[in-house]
Amino acid sequence: MGIIDDIRRYWDEDAATYDDSRQHRPTEPAVMAAWTAAVEAALPRAPSEVLDCGAGTGFLSLIAARLGHKVTALDMSPEMLSRLRARAAAEGLEVETVIGPATEPPGRDFDAVIERHLLWTLPDPAGALSSWRAVAPAGRLVLVESVWGEVDPIEELRGAASRVLGRLRQAPPEHHAEYSDELRSSLPLGRGTHPGTLVALAVDAGWRTPRLRRLRDVEWAERMTLPLGERMVGTAPRFVVVAD
Ligand SMILES: C[S@@+](CC[C@H](N)C(=O)[O-])C[C@H]1O[C@@H](n2cnc3c(N)ncnc32)[C@H](O)[C@@H]1O
Repeated sequence: MGIIDDIRRYWDEDAATYDDSRQHRPTEPAVMAAWTAAVEAALPRAPSEVLDCGAGTGFLSLIAARLGHKVTALDMSPEMLSRLRARAAAEGLEVETVIGPATEPPGRDFDAVIERHLLWTLPDPAGALSSWRAVAPAGRLVLVESVWGEVDPIEELRGAASRVLGRLRQAPPEHHAEYSDELRSSLPLGRGTHPGTLVALAVDAGWRTPRLRRLRDVEWAERMTLPLGERMVGTAPRFVVVAD
């Protein structure tokens, strides 16, 4: 079994509970409205052809489809994609799903390639960004990310405090298990994502004029849903990198 099989198996197992986490699938109307505004601002004018890489249970895909975009959701986990299909069907939305690795996008042109929280778990994030450039030669890149991990010691401390408080009130865990240390260490971004690193990777892959925006409205809406202690500790800095 290779690393890609290990990662696929992890996400197939995670699919059953992935959406229980409010971080992954918020249900509060104000939080969803803030996310919708952020995605609308980052994407080209609807309708456009959007490829969502590492689409998972469809967080970005469904928002983009609701905004009127024609969405293709690519993911190597059949279990994650089956949840996406069920949710799209429940809302009467059309989203095409493709099972496969992020480095092998469907061979046609897209107006935008988007992802949320995929890059950290790719063995070759640079290769993925280059392959997305090839299917969106005149299109837009939208990376929806947050700062976490060793790349920012302050955020690492804040995140640890936030997790302790979440456990104390028995909030659902974000995942069914943790990646092993060995697996994390084998991933170029497995120890954290920093905006500067992602901007540099995008530019190296041929994406032009990167723009970095912090998603303060999403953070603000999220914070207001938290109990006092967690609200004071705050949420991870969320940001989007957009490039042409
Ligand atoms: C943290 S989840 C993010 C899901 C979704 N984008 C979201 O925002 O909720 C990571 C997703 O990436 C997928 N994934 C991981 N490695 C992948 C790869 N090499 N190729 C395609 N999908 C991958 C996983 O199956 C999982 O659905």
